[in-house]
Amino acid sequence: MTPRVLSGIQPSGNLHIGNYLGALGNWVKIQHDYESIFCIVDLHAITVYQKPEELRSKVREIAALFLAAGIDPRHSRIVVQSAVAAHAELAWLLTCVTPMGWLERMTQFKAKAAAQESVGDGLFQYPVLMAADILLYQANIVPVGEDQMQHLELARDIAQRFNSLYGDTFTMPATRLPLVGARVMGLDEPTTKMSKSASGTGHAVALLDPPERIKKTIMRATTDSGSGVDFETMGPGVQNLLNIFQAFSDWTNDQMKAHFSGMRYGDLKKQVAEMTISKLEPIQKRYADITADPAYLESILKDGANAVRPTADATVRLVKERMGIYTETA
Ligand code: TYM
Repeated sequence: MTPRVLSGIQPSGNLHIGNYLGALGNWVKIQHDYESIFCIVDLHAITVYQKPEELRSKVREIAALFLAAGIDPRHSRIVVQSAVAAHAELAWLLTCVTPMGWLERMTQFKAKAAAQESVGDGLFQYPVLMAADILLYQANIVPVGEDQMQHLELARDIAQRFNSLYGDTFTMPATRLPLVGARVMGLDEPTTKMSKSASGTGHAVALLDPPERIKKTIMRATTDSGSGVDFETMGPGVQNLLNIFQAFSDWTNDQMKAHFSGMRYGDLKKQVAEMTISKLEPIQKRYADITADPAYLESILKDGANAVRPTADATVRLVKERMGIYTETA
């Protein structure tokens, strides 16, 4: 059987080059080696308040970006999480085998909760829903950025606990990080991860930013007190710029060293900006074409959900049977 890949992105904020280099771009590269399912996780997005109109349009924007980046809809399934009810149903069943202590340890929960006045229960349960996304399809491989590693360990823990309580049911999913680009840092503050929610220009390059803006953001990026690239002593800002370049170009470490050693920071930034623009411009062009045909996009999402629903429903049925939950007899 062909191994299955599953991953997801939240339709909140603007997708940025961290999301692309850590996840989406990697999905595009590996999709044809697997049976691939890529989700737009709107049920995750609502764990913090989203304006309904914005959420509705974000789901379509992300779907169009998946296609524009090169997800092949003839091969890979693009699925809106809420369109397949089994995601939420399995999440509840898994909630009942997940100790609260495991969720309390999640660093993303702690960070997100600290930033809110009132913390919704959904934010706490968030990683269980993520485990459900993965286990629902018995996914073998989950390609993500580094920040999702702890959530994936939890998904494996939940699967293991379920299997030991109720018998072998779930496949253990493996984490797959990209070789370079697993953790793109903020351009204004290279000690924190580039994030969709951090507002303000200067922090992130969004996939749909116009070239002029991309250039401006990268030229203003924080570096350090040195003046030229030194691979032995460079600070996190220079390291981040080099990582971005390497992830986009697929250059080897030797190529990077030979080309950038001693280069002045101004020139380094110029080259990172040019490389980024050259990779994003074709995506932006395709995005414009795809969004000009909303019916096409709707059909992709409908086909995606219809294609995966039987697998998802079969897993929920199996889980219910294992747990002794009522299932209708045919
Ligand atoms: P989300 O929407 O925050 O991010 C989507 C993907 O982008 C990666 N990423 C990054 N990679 C490198 N550098 C960065 N600065 C950076 N920021 C984000 C993330 O690691 C992720 O791969 N919980 C998930 C969504 C999710 C999911 C799933 C993922 C829900 N269900 C099932 C995999 C499988 C999230 O919030 O991703």
